[in-house]
Amino acid sequence: MKTKVLMVCLGNICRSPLAEGILKSKVDSDKVWVDSAGTAGYHVGSPPDPRSIAVARKHGLDISSQRCRKFSTADFEEFDYIYAMDQSNYSDILASARNESDLAKVSLLLEAVDLGYSEVPDPYYGGNDGFEKVFQMIDTACGAIAKRIEEDGRN
Ligand code: 4NP
Repeated sequence: MKTKVLMVCLGNICRSPLAEGILKSKVDSDKVWVDSAGTAGYHVGSPPDPRSIAVARKHGLDISSQRCRKFSTADFEEFDYIYAMDQSNYSDILASARNESDLAKVSLLLEAVDLGYSEVPDPYYGGNDGFEKVFQMIDTACGAIAKRIEEDGRN
């Protein structure tokens, strides 16, 4: 059975599409399924923000075929690990958890690494440099997560 990982932000057009694309590039797709979703439904059906598509492309990743969807309670059944980009996303996901098992699946993405801060900031209202910074943070965290999943798979 595949390990299933869900990346969650607010809009599912800036940060979590990057997290989906970056983690996918670091794992074996036969063993790990990665998806992303947003806690808000503003952009359902839309591709990622052009600035996220551009920064991913700059680093050799194509995330342009992703489409925005909203997080739902059913995701607790589907996924083994749910990573929130910031504290607000984290609280929103926890608020829809139904039991201890649901709660145990959720963590902040940056808890996977020790960068000195715990949130991936929302780059939506900023400039292009915000997207590069966010890419680097997510890339570092996804490296640690990919390694952990690979090690778990060997147990
Ligand atoms: P994201 O960024 O949560 O990283 O996808 C945002 C995208 C859109 C909005 C907010 C955050 N918005 O308000 O439309």
